[in-house]
Amino acid sequence: MSLFDKAIAAVTPPESQQKRDEARAKATAAAEPGDWLSLVLDQHRQLESSFAAVKSASDPASRTAALKKLGVILTGHAIAEEAVLYPGLAQAGEKGHAEMGYTEQVAVKMQMAALETLGPMSSDFLDKLEHIRGAVAHHMFEEEGTWFLELKQKAPADVQARLTQRFQEEFDRYIGDDAAGGAMREARSWDDARPPA
Ligand SMILES: [Fe+2]
Repeated sequence: MSLFDKAIAAVTPPESQQKRDEARAKATAAAEPGDWLSLVLDQHRQLESSFAAVKSASDPASRTAALKKLGVILTGHAIAEEAVLYPGLAQAGEKGHAEMGYTEQVAVKMQMAALETLGPMSSDFLDKLEHIRGAVAHHMFEEEGTWFLELKQKAPADVQARLTQRFQEEFDRYIGDDAAGGAMREARSWDDARPPA
C-alpha cells in the first residue's frame, strides 16, 4: 500500500452511515431552494450514484466510461468548491477548515489519477475505488455536518447570493455544454432511473 493509499485509508469513514445521514439531514434543513448549499447537496448525491455506477459496471468499456463520468463530476465539483466555497469559508473565519478541504481534495485528485492507470476489472482497481469513495464520503460528511453549516450561518445575505452565483458559474464552466456536459445529464438520468428507496 502506497503512502497515499495509507493517507486515504486513514480517513476512510470513521463515522457511521447513521452519522452521515444525520449530517445530510442537517445540511438539507439549512439549504434554501436554488442556493449554493442545495447545489452542493445535489452534486454530492450525483457523486454517490456515480461511484456506485463505476462499481456495478460489468465490463471494461462500461467501467471506463463510468469512471470518466465520475471524474468529470468530481473535478467540476471540486473546482467550484476550491474557487468559491473554501475561500468563502476562510473569509468567514474558518481558515483551518478551508485548508483541510483543499488538502483532502488534493489527495482524492492524486488517487483518481492513479485509479485511471489500473486495469478497470482488476481487484486493485476496486480496492482503490473503495478507498476513494470512503475518503469522499468522509469529506462530504465534514462539509455537510460542519464546514458548510458554518459558512451558511456566518456569511451575510449579500455574500450568500454571490457564493451561489459564483459556485454555479464555476461548476458550469467546467461541466460546460461539450461532451462533458453529457456526463452530468447522464448522471441525472441515472438518478431519475433509480427505483425509489
Ligand atoms: Fe463537496
